[in-house]
Amino acid sequence: MDIEQKSSIEYKISFEKPFSKEDLLLLLNLKNQSELKWLYSTADRVRRKYMGDEIFLRGIIEFSNRCGKSCDYCGIRAPNSKVNRYRIPDQEIIDICMILEKQAITTVVLQSGEDLFYTKEKMGGIIKTIKEKTNLAITLSVGERDKETYRYWKNCGMDRYLLRFETSNQKIFKDIHPDDNFKERLNCIRVLKELGIQTGSGFMIGLPQTGLDDIANDILLCRELDLDMIGIGPFIPHPDTPLYIDGFTFDLDFYTKVLAVLRMVNYNCHIPATTAFDAFKKEGRNLALQRGANVFMPNVTPEKYRRDYLLYPGKPCVDEPGEKCIACSAVRITSLGREIGKGKGHSLKKPGACQGLSAF
Ligand code: 5AD
Ligand code: FES
Repeated sequence: MDIEQKSSIEYKISFEKPFSKEDLLLLLNLKNQSELKWLYSTADRVRRKYMGDEIFLRGIIEFSNRCGKSCDYCGIRAPNSKVNRYRIPDQEIIDICMILEKQAITTVVLQSGEDLFYTKEKMGGIIKTIKEKTNLAITLSVGERDKETYRYWKNCGMDRYLLRFETSNQKIFKDIHPDDNFKERLNCIRVLKELGIQTGSGFMIGLPQTGLDDIANDILLCRELDLDMIGIGPFIPHPDTPLYIDGFTFDLDFYTKVLAVLRMVNYNCHIPATTAFDAFKKEGRNLALQRGANVFMPNVTPEKYRRDYLLYPGKPCVDEPGEKCIACSAVRITSLGREIGKGKGHSLKKPGACQGLSAF
C-alpha cells in the first residue's frame, strides 16, 4: 500500500499477520469520521480483492414458521400464540424454485423454524425433487439436527447449510436459548463442515448484555470455525418475546462497522447483506454491500405467508410479492455499480485459508 495513503490506524495494526483481538477492538472502537471512512473503504477493497464485484443472489423461501423452540429473541418462538402458523405445501415450494430458475437466481435458501414435521426423509424428498426439476444450488437453514440427517440431506443434493451460533458468549447463549446448548451448536457446525457441506454461521449484533468485547470474540469465532458463509445482523427486540426492551435505537453505522471488521478478518467468505440491516432504514442493505457484503437474499416467500414470518419487527418487504424483491435486488445491484453473480456462487475457501491479509 502506498505510504501516503496510509491512515494512522495502519500504523497501529499489522496487515501482515492474522488480526489479534486487540486489533479488532481498536477497529470496533473507531469513532472519528475520517477513520470510519477509512475502515469502510478498506473493507470494500478487501471484498473486491477476494470476492470480486459480483453480488450473488440467493432466493429465500421461509417455508414454515412452526417452531418447537423458545429462543428468547425470536418472534416465531413456540410460545408466541399470536403467530398465525403455516407450512408451505411441498408442491408450492417446488413451483417457486422453478420460477426462480427462470429469473436467473442460482441458489434457493429454504429456511424454517425448528419444525420436526420435516423429518429427514420428508425434507430429503423436497431436496431431491428440487434437484431433479432445477439446476439450483440448495441451502438449508432449519436448525440443529443429527449428523445422519445432515449427511442424508447432502446425499439428496443439499449444497450448503446455515446455522448461526448467535453469540460466542456462552453465558448469554445459555440465558437466551432455553432449549439449546452452546457446545452442541458448535458441534453441529463442525459436523456440517466435516461432511463437506458449505457451512454458514454468524451472530446477532447488540444482544442485551453484550459489548464490544463479545463482538470481537464473535468475529474471531467465525474465523476459528473457518466458515464458508457468515450471516450477521442487528438484534431487534420483538414485543412478543422475553427480550423485548423499550427505547431501542437502530444504529446502522455501528452495525455496518461490525460488518466491515468482519470482512477484514474473514476476507474470503461469502457475507450477505442480511434483511435485518434494512429494518427501519431502507438504505441499510445497500450500505452493507458497500462496507463488506457480497451476497443479497431476495425474499421469495409468497406474499400471503410473509407477514407471519416476523422474527423481529420492522422487517422489510413483508407486503411485496416475490418477483418484486428480485427486480428490486437487480436495481440495487446495478445502482451500486456491481454485477449480479453469474455462477452458483459456491464457496471460494480452501480449508484453513483465512490466515492474514498479507497480500492486501
Ligand atoms: N432480531 C434480529 N435477528 C433475529 N433473528 C431471530 N430473531 C431475531 C431478532 N429479534 C435471527 C437469528 C436467526 C436468524 C434466522 O434470524 O440470528 O438465526
Ligand atoms: Fe425457533 Fe429458536 S425460536 S429455533
